[in-house]
Amino acid sequence: MINFPHPLRLPFQNALTGATYFLVSGDQIEPTPDQLLEIASCANEPLVYDLLFRQRFEGEPYRENDAADWITWTHAGWDHNTHFSFMVQDEAGRVVAACDIKSNDVEGAEAGYWASAHHRGVMTNAVKLMCQQAAKAGFRSLTARTKRGNDKSKAVLHRVGFQDVPSLDDERYEHYLLQLGDRS
Ligand SMILES: CC(C)(COP(=O)(O)OP(=O)(O)OC[C@H]1O[C@@H](n2cnc3c(N)ncnc32)[C@H](O)[C@@H]1OP(=O)(O)O)[C@@H](O)C(=O)NCCC(=O)NCCS
Repeated sequence: MINFPHPLRLPFQNALTGATYFLVSGDQIEPTPDQLLEIASCANEPLVYDLLFRQRFEGEPYRENDAADWITWTHAGWDHNTHFSFMVQDEAGRVVAACDIKSNDVEGAEAGYWASAHHRGVMTNAVKLMCQQAAKAGFRSLTARTKRGNDKSKAVLHRVGFQDVPSLDDERYEHYLLQLGDRS
């Protein structure tokens, strides 16, 4: 059984600039016009859009109502203990990145993430912090997959401590595993 303490708001540092950011459980993010605009603007950045949304959105822009739907999905996960999304906010409260655990499977739920290119240096530390919290919440391992060639994402996973595992099912992806050990 997963037991994430929440609401959760943890400070951490940007590894490149030293600036303070916050890992915030998504149940605290409200769909205000500013938040929706910020999320849509990150999602429409070329790298994030190409890797996560271009195919699904058939080339149409990620709009503010898509951000609102995402926040609704995020709240539902925390309400029902089914999936766990976190936003990264800067000191001004702007959402600049996000990471999530996509299910409550204690042995191998999948992690995912994106970050604005204007805030290089936040992602690895945010994902590390999320994984530490996940261990405390009861997850024993997490998985991840990257599209082959997504070297930035692969580098994040390696910095966090994920190990490569063989990709048996789908050659388009590379797969990873993070063992979290005992609850502490
Ligand atoms: C994948 C993605 C989040 C990576 O973002 P990023 O800004 O490269 O990630 P980080 O903040 O961890 O790293 C940025 C830099 O800080 C450095 N850094 C970050 N954390 C660090 C740490 N703890 N110690 C030392 N250096 C660190 C990295 O080495 C990196 O340097 P580089 O750009 O010179 O290689 C971003 O490219 C993205 O959103 N891509 C699109 C969505 C996507 O692919 N999601 C993953 C799907 S599987």
